[in-house]
This record gives sequence, C-alpha cells and structure tokens, in this order.
Amino acid sequence: MSAPIVLTSDEIKSLSAKTLDARSLSYSPYSKFRVGAVLITQDGTYVEGANVENASYGACICAEQTAIVKAVNFKAIGVASSSGTYTSPCGICRQVLREFAPNIAIYMFAEDGTFVVEPLTAMLPRSFGPENLDVVRE
Ligand code: THU
Repeated sequence: MSAPIVLTSDEIKSLSAKTLDARSLSYSPYSKFRVGAVLITQDGTYVEGANVENASYGACICAEQTAIVKAVNFKAIGVASSSGTYTSPCGICRQVLREFAPNIAIYMFAEDGTFVVEPLTAMLPRSFGPENLDVVRE
C-alpha cells in the first residue's frame, strides 16, 4: 500500500485550528468530553464533526463518525478533545475510517496546536475491509 498523503504545513495549520474549533460543536452533557474531528477532502474542503451524545448512551456518535457521514472521500483527518492533549480515535472510528480511507494519516492535536500523526495502518493493523468481502467500493 502506498504511503499516506502528507499535508503541507499550511494545511496542517488550518486543520489544527479547525479541529480545535470543532470541539465547540460538541453535544456532550454526559461525558463532558468535547471532541472535534475535521476531514480534508480531495479538493481541499474542510468538513467538521463533533461528538453528539444521547440520554440513551448507546446512541452516542463520535466526532469522527459525524464528519465521515458528511464526506466519504477525504485525504486526512484531524482529531482534538477537551482533554487538551492528544486524543486518538476509538476502535469503532478506526474501522469506519478504514472503510473509506485505509491508508489515511490521522493528525491528533493538543491544545497548543502541536500534533502527533499516525497512519491508520499502524493504528488498525491487519484490518478488515471491503476487499475481504470481495467487494470493490463504489
Ligand atoms: N469520542 C469521540 O467523539 N471520538 C473518539 O474517538 C473517542 C470518544 C466521544 C464519545 C463520547 O461522546 C465521549 O467522547 C466520551 O467517550
């Protein structure tokens, strides 16, 4: 598999600011853990998401998934939380990312804009995807 797309420093700066801002869209009265996630699409559009919780806890939606249902074609994702330190996507979000972008770079931002970046292939090794069902994604 080819290497993940590397963002320019301008793109990383924008992604950082927008991801940290996206936390303000969070509805998280139960956990009080505000998560923002932002995708960059292939044409350079930024698509925001935030976690949306529910009194029926199992109905909570993670920030990453909120963004992914808005744009399934993307080249990178940023994630940030109210913890202020690097937050990595949960296992279910990794699997959802895997469906659409098996080789994506995940940028995890801290409050000061510093980040760690990991390819999804490192965070979800030997993953299961459409090819395993002999399905080519449309
Ligand atoms: N959360 C996310 O939005 N993304 C993750 O990858 C980890 C967890 C949310 C779900 C819930 O609203 C809150 O963080 C606490 O788990």
